[in-house]
Amino acid sequence: MGRWWSGSVGYEIYPRSYADSNDDGYGDLEGVRQRLPYLQWLGVDAIWLAPFYKSPGFDHGYDVSDYRDVNPIHGDLADFDRLVEDAHGRDIRVIVDIVPNHSSSHHRWFQEALQGKDNPYRDYYIWKDPAPDGGPPNNWVSHFGGPAWTLDDASGQYWCHLFLPEQPDFNWTNPAVADEFDAILRFWCDRGADGFRIDVAHGVMKDPQFRDNPQRVPIVDADDPSEVFNAFDHLHDLDQDDTVDVYKRWHEVVEPYDAILIGESNPRSLDRVVRYVENEALHTIFYLEPAWMKWKPSELLDKVETVNRSTDNGVSWVIDNHDTSRSATRFGGGEAGQHRSIAVMAFMCALGGFPFLWEGQELGLHDARLDAANLEDPIATRNEHGRGRDATRTVMPWDTSNANGFSATAEPWLIAPQRPLEETVEGQRQDPDSWLNRHRDLLSVRKSLPDLWEAEPEWFDAPLGDARALRRGNTIAVTNLGENPMQFELPSGTWTVQYDSRGEVKGNRRSGMATVAAEATYLMSLE
Ligand code: NOJ
Repeated sequence: MGRWWSGSVGYEIYPRSYADSNDDGYGDLEGVRQRLPYLQWLGVDAIWLAPFYKSPGFDHGYDVSDYRDVNPIHGDLADFDRLVEDAHGRDIRVIVDIVPNHSSSHHRWFQEALQGKDNPYRDYYIWKDPAPDGGPPNNWVSHFGGPAWTLDDASGQYWCHLFLPEQPDFNWTNPAVADEFDAILRFWCDRGADGFRIDVAHGVMKDPQFRDNPQRVPIVDADDPSEVFNAFDHLHDLDQDDTVDVYKRWHEVVEPYDAILIGESNPRSLDRVVRYVENEALHTIFYLEPAWMKWKPSELLDKVETVNRSTDNGVSWVIDNHDTSRSATRFGGGEAGQHRSIAVMAFMCALGGFPFLWEGQELGLHDARLDAANLEDPIATRNEHGRGRDATRTVMPWDTSNANGFSATAEPWLIAPQRPLEETVEGQRQDPDSWLNRHRDLLSVRKSLPDLWEAEPEWFDAPLGDARALRRGNTIAVTNLGENPMQFELPSGTWTVQYDSRGEVKGNRRSGMATVAAEATYLMSLE
């Protein structure tokens, strides 16, 4: 018997940007609830809500100051309960985000920890004495710029933060921290959450000796945090061997609730992906390379095939999320980028696992163009050359009214140009050829062909270049990400094209040698 998520497709919601029910410029849980009929129509089986907890908002919610309460800008616990009840009534599961690597510096625990070395909460966080020269204890850098250490003048010790200084990292070698998180998981499961997306799941454990990370390449632009971060081999601050033990424990906590654990895990190499999902630890992980890469089809397909061969149902496939440039833009922009985006997503729908769409991806949206003065992301506002994430986080375009239907009259928290009718839900919903309807069709075809996720995957090993094909039972998925149409030899029998990401040959019957259009994916079934 499969688990509830087998065959499911998820949908990520950034509550701040989805729908503003009380017209204060911030999206809220009630706004999400009011849009559930849309999500049901689209055919998603689960929503993942980015953090809506109490937070001062330095990292827009990924800096949690109370893990058991709702940020008033997003509503309250009663709104959460209503959202869960309504979603469940529509067969939509609710996955919440959990942030175990760090809290907000405003969290009561950190405020206590700042009181001094003897405070009982001191050891909830990571403190180290300065290096002999008085500087940070090692060479680790923050994802968001600068060192991963900030000096607490009062105690003379540094605290560790892989992100902002306002996001101090927990000390996961302290059993009290593990106990706190067990209780937090149970709190949300008791309220009806169907699982967790785990933020920086690969970051919680650190090298016990806090050794320097080896530097791989020289740093040219020290004001670009991602260049600085990527100049190092993150041997000692991320993806430690014992990280998985944390999730084995969580597995036991959530199993009685039938809840899913989905890790945001960035393993150091492809062969480390599978560690997180075997041994009864996480159920799936987000494998994020396809959500970061520019358009390099053969590299993309090599990686995807390698990862799928290592675990067929352990991956939550994504090409978009709230941290990256939208795939339609990143894959080349214009209509080409939109075709590439849906072609890759369609192929991912035949890769087992639990794929996710990101809000607006279903509309084929490109990144928004924001004025520099309106940027909100600390990566952009705190670094000279930081590439922030605001362009993907602008409000969901529902229609052409105020703020694209996000707020009735308010100006949204993130100011961006209004989108035209053809980029909105209203403008695409009636058009059978729209990106919206093509994504909807994809979800419905996937559901109607269980072999696409249940049957054993058999990769075709012909040298296919920028293309790949996969047979699962009585289905075949072929993706041709090259610039030219290609010929593909079908196994014997007559095959019907059930889904075509270009919407050109759906329903056609094929046998023998078949042509696959350029930058397209076909999902076919055997008659
Ligand atoms: C990953 C999240 O997706 C991102 O938005 C956040 O800034 C960092 N983790 C830190 O929590």
